[in-house]
Amino acid sequence: MPNIYYKGQFRPPPPAYHRGSLLQTLKRILLTRRSITYMLGGLLFAWFYILVKISFLTHSPYDLDWDLERRLAGSRSVIKSSRKVDKNPTRYQPIVRQPLPLQPTEAIWPPNIDIPLCKPKIYVYPDPPAILKVYETVPPMNTPYISERILLEQLRDPTSSAYKNYVTLNPEEADWFYIPFLGARYLNHCWFILHEKGDCDVDEKYVAPWMKYVQEELPYWKRSNGEDHLMVHPMDRTSRYYETREKMENATFLTTIGDLRPVGAAVVGARRYKNIPIPSATALLDLVKADPSKYLTSDGYPRNKRRDIFLLFGGRYSDVEATDVYSAGVRSLLLNGFDKQKDYVISPGWESDKYMKLLSRSRFGLAPLGHTLDTTRIWEYIAFGVVPVIIADGILEPYEDDVDWNSFSIRIPRKDAHRMDVILRAIPEDEYQRLRERVWNYGRRVLLTRDSWHLIVRDLCRRNHMEGMRTIDRNHRVPLEAPFNSLKV
Ligand SMILES: *[C@@H]1O[C@H](CO)[C@@H](O)[C@H](O)[C@H]1NC(C)=O
Repeated sequence: MPNIYYKGQFRPPPPAYHRGSLLQTLKRILLTRRSITYMLGGLLFAWFYILVKISFLTHSPYDLDWDLERRLAGSRSVIKSSRKVDKNPTRYQPIVRQPLPLQPTEAIWPPNIDIPLCKPKIYVYPDPPAILKVYETVPPMNTPYISERILLEQLRDPTSSAYKNYVTLNPEEADWFYIPFLGARYLNHCWFILHEKGDCDVDEKYVAPWMKYVQEELPYWKRSNGEDHLMVHPMDRTSRYYETREKMENATFLTTIGDLRPVGAAVVGARRYKNIPIPSATALLDLVKADPSKYLTSDGYPRNKRRDIFLLFGGRYSDVEATDVYSAGVRSLLLNGFDKQKDYVISPGWESDKYMKLLSRSRFGLAPLGHTLDTTRIWEYIAFGVVPVIIADGILEPYEDDVDWNSFSIRIPRKDAHRMDVILRAIPEDEYQRLRERVWNYGRRVLLTRDSWHLIVRDLCRRNHMEGMRTIDRNHRVPLEAPFNSLKV
C-alpha cells in the first residue's frame, strides 16, 4: 500500500483580510506632504494633456492631411487589436474534415457530360478517288500518331454512339464537315517504312488532292470559307508539316496539343480559340492494345499487390540540364536525388509488359513537359488509374471547359518542381484515394477511345452558338429536349 498522506511541509493559513486596517493604512500614506505634492503634479499634467487633446479635437475639418492621419491611426489600431482576436480555436488544423456534399443540381461545374450541350450534324467527306489512289501505296501504319484514324473510325462506324448521335449522310443539312485527312499516316509511312527524310512531297501528293476536292469540286467549303470544317492534326507540329497549310488554316483543327503560350514560345503557334485539344493515341494503349483489366480489378486496384510505387516516370531525363530549353530543364531535377528515392521508379523506359505491371503498382505518374507541353504518358497513367502529376506551365488539357482536370490530376508549376516530393508526400491518404477514384471513374472518360466525340461536340456547340439546340437541317434548329437530352440512346 503506498503512503497516501501528503508529506510536504506544513504551511500556516494566510492572515485574514481586514478591511478596517487597510483603510487606516491608506489614510496614513495619502496624507503625507510628499504624496500631496505628487498628486498636485499629476493634476497639472492631466490639465496640460487635456489642453493638448482639445487642440487636436478642434482641428479644422478642412485639413485633409490631418484627417488622413487620423483615419490611418484609426485603422492601424483596428488592425492591431484584431490581431489579438483569434476566432479559430484550432488554427493549425482544418476544422471540417469532410468535403462539402455533392449537390444534385444542374447549376454546378463540371457538367454532366451525358447530357449533350447541343446536337449538331456532322458530314464526313468520302475519300475522293485521287486519295484512294494514294492509299493504295501508303498503307496504314503502326505509329502512336493514329488519333486521326481512331476518330475517323468512330465517325464511320454505324454502330458507334458518335455515328448514331451526330453523323449525317446528307451534306446539305450538316453543321460541320469532317475532312478525313490522314496526313500522319502519309508522313509516318514515308519516314519509317521508306526511310525518307523531309516533307516526302506530301503537299503535292496528298494535301493538294484533298484540298482541291474539298474546296473546288464540292460547294460546302465555299459557303463559309472553311470555318465549319474539321480536320485532325495528331503530331507535335500540327499543320506545320505542310508547306501549303495556308489552304487548310480556316478549318478547326483537332490537335493533340493544347498550349497557352504566346506564338513563338509554342512549337504549334497559338490558335487558342481555333484548335480543339484532343487526347493522343499512345503506343501502349492503341498499338499494343494494353488491357488494364489484366492487372487491375474493376475498381482499379492492383490484382496482386498494393500500389507500392510512389512515383513512376519512364522517358528521357538523363542528359537534361537545368538550363535546357528541352522540358524547360524540369527533367534535370530527376537526376538530383529523385531517382535515388526508394519508392520512385524512374528509367528511360521499359518493355510494354514490364511497363504495364509498373503502372498498375504506381500511385503517382510524372508527366513533365518535353519538346511540347503534353506527353502521351498521361493517357497511360489515366488508363491504369495512376494519378498524373503534370509539370507543364501553360498546358491546356483536352475539354477543360467540361472536364474537371483538377479533381483527378495534380499540376505543379515549374517554380515549385524542385519541391515535388514534399508536395506529393504532404497529400493525405484519404485525399489520394479521392484522386485515384476520380481518375478511375471519371478521368478515364476522356481517353480517346471513350467519349471523345461527345466531348469534341460540346466544344463545337459553343463555337457555333448552338447551345441547347438540335439541328433539323442546316437552317432549322429546335430546342434540345427529351428524349434527345441523353447520349445513351
Ligand atoms: C480563309 O478565310 C478568309 C477570310 O474569310 C478568306 O479570305 C480566305 O480566302 C479563306 N481561305 C481559304 C483557303 O478558303
